[in-house]
Amino acid sequence: MSDEICEFERFGMDDIDALVELERECFSHPWGAEQFRLGLENKVFHVFGLRRAGVIVAYCSMYIIVDEAEVLNIAVRPELRRQGLGSRLLRIVLQICRKMGIHNARLEVRVSNVAARNLYANFGFEQVGIRTGYYPDTGEDALLMTLDMDKIPERG
Ligand SMILES: CC(C)(COP(=O)(O)OP(=O)(O)OC[C@H]1O[C@@H](n2cnc3c(N)ncnc32)[C@H](O)[C@@H]1OP(=O)(O)O)[C@@H](O)C(=O)NCCC(=O)NCCS
Repeated sequence: MSDEICEFERFGMDDIDALVELERECFSHPWGAEQFRLGLENKVFHVFGLRRAGVIVAYCSMYIIVDEAEVLNIAVRPELRRQGLGSRLLRIVLQICRKMGIHNARLEVRVSNVAARNLYANFGFEQVGIRTGYYPDTGEDALLMTLDMDKIPERG
């Protein structure tokens, strides 16, 4: 699979089953089909991702409201991590946001999620706050990170 070309796509209703399967592989509290369906009925909700040989290998969900983007989630298939796919996807998504006139991006990330924190930091996201006990499953704190979109390079 690693030799196949990755295609960037915007996902929709037809992709929900595959997205739910990927969620289950990646998260202890995965989104279900109904959450994706309700989200996709909402114009501000977007799911972008990478497909390789017909299989979704990475996805990123977000809200885009006026000139602000909120990254809800990003995930890469476990066996394909640390090969640059997460960075590639986030780079494309942020470039799209910038072209749409988005000026700020924000997200929450578990304090213990070193991989995601490093990924976001590589793109210039900065910690601006902490939400104590934010995650109901473990009571873990969330870091609130923001990115000034005007600071990211046009190409990269
Ligand atoms: C976070 C995630 C999307 C990163 O995807 P990825 O394809 O592995 O990321 P990349 O290969 O592009 O790595 C980019 C950078 O992220 C950081 N990173 C990725 N995995 C890491 C790890 N296991 N430990 C520490 N840093 C890591 C590194 O800085 C890395 O750059 P480097 O390889 O030059 O050191 C992936 O680990 C994942 O799907 N995790 C589970 C889902 C999740 O927690 N999502 C975030 C929710 S907020």
